[in-house]
Amino acid sequence: MRTIQLKEVAQHNKKDDIWLILYGKVYDLTDFLPEHPGGESIILQLGGTDATEEFDLIHSLDIIGRFLSSDMCIGQVEPVKTTVEYNNMENNSNQKQLTAIITSDSNKEKPIPLTLDTIPSIEEMQNTFDFQSVAKQVLKSTAYSYFSSGSGDNMTMRENHNAYHRIWFRPQIMVDVSKVDMSTEMLGAKVSLPLYISATSFCKMAHPEGEKALARATGNQGIIQMIPTLASCSLGEITGARIHSKQPQWLQLYVSTDRKMTQRIIQQAEKNGIQGLFITVDRAIVGPRGRSRNDKDMFNDEGGIQKVLSNERGTTSNILPLFVDPSLNWNDIAWFKSITKIPIILKGVQRWEDAVLAWRHGCAGIVLSNHGGRQLDFAPSPIEILPEVMDALKREGCNLKKDFEVYIDGGIRRGSDIFKALALGAKGVGIGRPALYALSCYGEKGVEHLLNLLRNEFEMTMRLMGTKSIKDIEPDMVDIRNLKDHFVANPTDHLSKYTYERLKPRGNLSRL
Ligand SMILES: Cc1cc2nc3c(=O)[nH]c(=O)nc-3n(C[C@H](O)[C@H](O)[C@H](O)COP(=O)(O)O)c2cc1C
Repeated sequence: MRTIQLKEVAQHNKKDDIWLILYGKVYDLTDFLPEHPGGESIILQLGGTDATEEFDLIHSLDIIGRFLSSDMCIGQVEPVKTTVEYNNMENNSNQKQLTAIITSDSNKEKPIPLTLDTIPSIEEMQNTFDFQSVAKQVLKSTAYSYFSSGSGDNMTMRENHNAYHRIWFRPQIMVDVSKVDMSTEMLGAKVSLPLYISATSFCKMAHPEGEKALARATGNQGIIQMIPTLASCSLGEITGARIHSKQPQWLQLYVSTDRKMTQRIIQQAEKNGIQGLFITVDRAIVGPRGRSRNDKDMFNDEGGIQKVLSNERGTTSNILPLFVDPSLNWNDIAWFKSITKIPIILKGVQRWEDAVLAWRHGCAGIVLSNHGGRQLDFAPSPIEILPEVMDALKREGCNLKKDFEVYIDGGIRRGSDIFKALALGAKGVGIGRPALYALSCYGEKGVEHLLNLLRNEFEMTMRLMGTKSIKDIEPDMVDIRNLKDHFVANPTDHLSKYTYERLKPRGNLSRL
């Protein structure tokens, strides 16, 4: 293979002559440019440079083999410039360091802190907020913005968790709670806890092991992972990371304008033993993510990333249709049911009328969700609408024990939140950001630690509420008189705002 100098690669950075370095090899992408599923602009932006890091965050390795023909590889760089090695090292204080070593041009080894060099020990993480506090400091600011952003003025994002503060308990006493069973079933799969990790795209932005780490952590904890369509690892890699062959996994599905492509994804899901197909229905276009809107930065928000994945057409909202079909409607459900036996669940239901329609159209369930407050600002919090959804389904004659399951996500940060959602009728709850933050800070171990914290909190709530098993959790155990009252003053949360946020890293903390 021809050896090519970096200087030479740098000269090929124009539309009619464009080269890129990926994993030490040089590719001539001039002919591929118009066909790139992510559009031309990102390749033009990175033309003549080493794009390995940007590529690696949002593609699985097999993409190269699938999309680039062998004659596009025209050589390798000399010396091999960009071997990125991820070293997980334990030092004396039992802290985990995640470091990338990049062999530089001059052949000097230059350790570059990838996300963290020194962080508090994992044992110091005592709740979901602690992880966010550390993640905020160690993640690249672009990645943190992408994870933490909500839409508009973040009203819905904040309300998602705040609404749980308006539900109070009616504890039961004198019940033998020496043994508590938290296990339940979700879509027929036995789980140790009524909690799953929801789909969040591009998990490699959090950690190099991305969705594979989530697969292992959820497997070890006996809970379910919902795999995103826009994963940074391939479906085969993620299902291949199961800790045993029976480990249940679900797939979140963005329905493409190219229905053949959607059908292929579903077939692949069937082949890989996926047990639930969660069709996202709250994202006909990308919501206005407020946190960072610098269009030049491709990781600024999902819209920005979408630009990489779909095509360049100016604003994020008119790019998305190329990938997610905005014409998706109730008539399509019959088509999904005709092509797969995997149970179909709609993710992103936001009012009781649609819950009833989902049931009438033969879906196996719904997720009350507003995409973690990343879509329509002022959409209600899912927990607020849960009681009316359950009432409507019962009123219409839906058999909630047999035919239809209601899940909920958004703002779940405490074991007590899980209890409240279950009391109001949810079969299980999903978490998005907490898992991302834990993954960013401590990888797979961090996610397991997070799940253990939530498990302990939930178990404690069950005991203090006088409930021995999931079926004992009833609607009359919560007081929801204030739930609909959005104007109730929420006292400032000093604990999370001032105490947890002040967790300081040990030693110097550098950010890329
Ligand atoms: C960074 C990020 C990426 C997400 N990506 C997707 C996605 O690709 N598909 C999807 O249906 N939902 C996606 N979601 C929404 C989550 O599945 C889930 O509904 C939401 O995060 C739950 O709220 P929480 O983060 O407050 O727990 C994403 C959320 C975040 C924070």
